Amino acid sequence: MSAARSKASARDTEYARAERAAKFILSKTKLRPKIALVLGSGLGAFADELTDAMRIPYQKIPNFPRSTAVGHSGLLVIGKAEGIAVAAMQGRVHLYEGYSAREVAFAMRVFGRMGMRSAILTNAAGGINPEFKQGALVVIRDHINLQGANPLVGSNDERFGPRFPDMTQAYWRSYREIALAEAKRLGIEAHEGVYAALLGPSYETPAEIRYLRTIGADLVGMSTVPEVIVARHMGIRVLGISCVTNMAAGILDRPLDHSEVLETGERVRGQFIALLRAVIPRIAADKN
Ligand code: HPA
Repeated sequence: MSAARSKASARDTEYARAERAAKFILSKTKLRPKIALVLGSGLGAFADELTDAMRIPYQKIPNFPRSTAVGHSGLLVIGKAEGIAVAAMQGRVHLYEGYSAREVAFAMRVFGRMGMRSAILTNAAGGINPEFKQGALVVIRDHINLQGANPLVGSNDERFGPRFPDMTQAYWRSYREIALAEAKRLGIEAHEGVYAALLGPSYETPAEIRYLRTIGADLVGMSTVPEVIVARHMGIRVLGISCVTNMAAGILDRPLDHSEVLETGERVRGQFIALLRAVIPRIAADKN
């Protein structure tokens, strides 16, 4: 990009930048995706199974941030799952990589401008609730934002949504019910829980985990919340599913290791994919 053009795009509003990225993506495919999928650490395999798929590296998409974390490939895959057109992010960016909350959530702005009204976000999380086992899937009921950042800070563009958006149903109730019912039908162990989002990248201390348990958190992670806030700001309905890739610090008497997170993600990916496949058509048809 020329210096003149990059200066012009820096001056553009977030709305104009989202619009440009949305038009670019839609110009590359005949599909009109209905559901946005954000696939977290080690869970990107789902996007490999989409049919009629078209892959766009993030760096080709105007204004899209690039992902740097291990286990995140940085591809937007537009394709079909069970006949439903979806846009899947294989890898996301995180606050701990040095991006602002606005940048982290920018892709959700783009999905909103592409016309999507539903989003499924997945992540790897540490289990705090002692009833959760490593490898369990947890439907996010609500979150606690402890990241010290909010993607809506700064001027508000009313074309996206209101200055003070409601967050009482951050995770759409009928979607949660669908996910839990489908997990049960498939014989997959699934729970419901509250996700606490921290900045990272260091894992928590055992004292922090005891504190999180006290304030009502069942899971802890370093992602998802900025995207969910922006989705709700735009009126997009959200389903969040965590994979308990490890028990949180101090719950078991051993140190945490990122390779454990990736290995557990790998181990449960078949179940995760089966659940997503079952949930997508029901969410696409949901009128609640
Ligand atoms: N803490 C924070 N983020 C995580 C964890 C954890 O234990 N596991 C996977 N993501």
